[in-house]
Amino acid sequence: MSRVLSARALAARALAAVLERDVTLEAALEQALREAPATLHANVRSLGYGAVRGYFRHEALLKRLLAQPLASSARLARALLSVALFELEDARTPQYAVVDAAVEAARDLHLHKLTGLINALLRRYLREREPLDADLARNPAVRHAFPEWLAQQIRADWPVRWTQILAASDRQAPLWLRINARRAADQAYLEELRKQGMPAHLQPQVPHALVLEKACEVGELPGFGDGRCSVQDLGAQCVAFPLALAPGQRVLDACAAPGGKTALIAERQPRLAALWAVDVDAQRVPLIEAGLARLGCEARVCCADAARPDTWWDGQGFDRILLDAPCSALGVIRRHSDIRLRRRPGDIDKFASRQQGLLRALFDLLLPGGRLVYATCTVTRRENRDTIAAFLAATPTAAMVPPVQWEGWPDLGETDECGVQILPGEAGADGFYYAALTKQ
Ligand SMILES: C[S@@+](CC[C@H](N)C(=O)[O-])C[C@H]1O[C@@H](n2cnc3c(N)ncnc32)[C@H](O)[C@@H]1O
Repeated sequence: MSRVLSARALAARALAAVLERDVTLEAALEQALREAPATLHANVRSLGYGAVRGYFRHEALLKRLLAQPLASSARLARALLSVALFELEDARTPQYAVVDAAVEAARDLHLHKLTGLINALLRRYLREREPLDADLARNPAVRHAFPEWLAQQIRADWPVRWTQILAASDRQAPLWLRINARRAADQAYLEELRKQGMPAHLQPQVPHALVLEKACEVGELPGFGDGRCSVQDLGAQCVAFPLALAPGQRVLDACAAPGGKTALIAERQPRLAALWAVDVDAQRVPLIEAGLARLGCEARVCCADAARPDTWWDGQGFDRILLDAPCSALGVIRRHSDIRLRRRPGDIDKFASRQQGLLRALFDLLLPGGRLVYATCTVTRRENRDTIAAFLAATPTAAMVPPVQWEGWPDLGETDECGVQILPGEAGADGFYYAALTKQ
């Protein structure tokens, strides 16, 4: 009979899958938990998330502690050590119990040859912990558990703010809500939250945006099932300003899944002539439909490649196009720590070339005088300012709509030659970039 794996062993398996197969942590956890008893789930999740969040700090520690580096193929052992080092940082379990449990988990995972090494290594860390931690913390990349190349990439773009970006990515994100103005009034909803013992604050410059003092499960939010609110970061909600929606417009949300911004558009302007939501990912498209149904909104939803309009477009131009482009997502690392593990040095260039292709294809669908809003949830110049600048240089009919012309834009972000960059953590928001283009 096969033995039930411990929470530590399951968390290590999930982390190893992220390292090996470039799957998201959430997908890896689902797989790891498939046959695990429900009593273990919360613990496996907390260990998995903690280990992923600290992985690159743990790797730096291991480098110091090992005379010879563990082979890159020894991913499961490295993952298990990361789980144990997270537990030692977290300090909820007594130190001796963490070490014993890690050795036990190594046996469970058939890492018999490594049990002695794991035991010795963790015990040595406990002996030398203070000077070792202090020394490693001098390097901001290690302190905030970033791979060195990614920290340097961010530093090259943000020579003054890079450590601030790394630190913000390493902190817990707050829970932002968007109140559905079709179904609830801001003040009344705030009061309802207060009565439920969930104090929150409205963001004075971003209509319908509210932040909870203490995060909770989505299911606990009053009126969530009735579509009175949605979970959406403040930075994402800022899309409403450059879009400048008005009745009668034909609007396209070109990279729409899971549909957060499609829903915001539908809520904000119920009298659009048409709202299209397109996404290429067949698994995520149903999420757009489900979200709209919950909120009492409608859109024409298509599963298609937005860069191939011949496969889905009806030939009528759009007044507004939102290109919320696939990107390196460095602005949302605080919500998805596994992004640090899944990015590779060549990714930024690959994203930039996809973004350019989407911009080219979608700009053709824009009516003269219309507006294309380009958005990313990342902070690299290459995917933001440089992508827009290159597109403007290559497209004589395209002109910038500078941020000063975006009515109501809040006191947020840093303006560059092409758009606005909100950095992660600024005013509690995720990192987002916005630019707006018009057709002459
Ligand atoms: C940043 S996410 C969009 C988030 C969404 N706008 C929201 O607010 O909920 C980027 C999306 O682009 C989609 N995508 C990537 N390439 C695409 C393409 N060629 N055509 C359509 N969608 C694409 C991805 O499937 C992904 O869902």
